[in-house]
Amino acid sequence: MTKTGTLSTGNSILTENNKIFAQDVIKGLSTSPKQIPSVYFYDEKGSALFETICELPEYYPTRTETQILRHHGRDIVQHFPSKLQIIELGSGSSVKTRILLESFLNEHGSARYVPIDVSASILNQSARELENRYNELTVQPVTARYEQGVAQSILHDGTHNLLLWLGSSIGNFTRTEAVEFLNTIRGMSGANASFLIGIDLRKERTLLEKAYNDAQGVTAAFNLNLLERMNRELLADFDLSAFRHLSKYDEEKGRVEMHLVSQKKQTVHFDVPGFTVHFEEGESIHTENSYKYNINEIEDMAYQTGLILKQQWLDPQKWFSLNLFIPK
Ligand code: AVJ
Repeated sequence: MTKTGTLSTGNSILTENNKIFAQDVIKGLSTSPKQIPSVYFYDEKGSALFETICELPEYYPTRTETQILRHHGRDIVQHFPSKLQIIELGSGSSVKTRILLESFLNEHGSARYVPIDVSASILNQSARELENRYNELTVQPVTARYEQGVAQSILHDGTHNLLLWLGSSIGNFTRTEAVEFLNTIRGMSGANASFLIGIDLRKERTLLEKAYNDAQGVTAAFNLNLLERMNRELLADFDLSAFRHLSKYDEEKGRVEMHLVSQKKQTVHFDVPGFTVHFEEGESIHTENSYKYNINEIEDMAYQTGLILKQQWLDPQKWFSLNLFIPK
């Protein structure tokens, strides 16, 4: 890779948000091995593709977590007092959360729900739908990043704060980052709080690799959309047919990696002065890590974050876990 001039994007026609994207891309494609943060998957097209992934036969996490929530909903809500607010991290369309909200409304009559997401459009739309559907539910959507959203939502008036983090989104964090993040939000939430977190479990390689490389090619399209997004927003000239989607499980690290592999030696240009990127044949961009845990690793994580694993619910195949943590 050559990089003449500075990292300044000042002369291009990029918008402010795109400049942050551009800076992250420049940084990630200037390091070796090349990488781009997985948060950039979720533009409008990427978010829609992710919703489709959740319904794929190979992608077991969504339906398995849904199954756990359906099966144990009544048991789960017993753990919380009726003066409760449910704060959800990265709620998206809130589909799975409805199961829990319904169990809670059945048990306690009313609830307050604070979905936090960076994507305002899906968030506000699903908030309106939920309020129309459930009379006894107060919905207060917050468009923000996790930390900021939690900091402004916690109630200190005797209300119990339930922090809900579903879908194994924790898997995009390294194990160290996960500990740091849980420490941060535990610190913000005080003593009258609990954490209900969906965590995907370590399992056989073929199952994992298929879940991230489905037969219909939706996950491949989701991964390749990152190149499309750079073409659209950063005016890059990626040839999508010259990159291939790859998912592989690193068993030692306990993570599924997604990559975009260059099929030939090639050079890509961006609308950033002097920024071009060279690829060797077979060289890849590392686009995502999805960490998997075993029960010991979950207990250990709790221990390191000043939390106690109070209860854990699994599906019969032990593919996915729903974990209730409380402050020590
Ligand atoms: C949203 C991070 C939980 O890692 O399983 C799905 C994202 N990537 N297929 C995951 C994803 C490819 C997903 N998380």
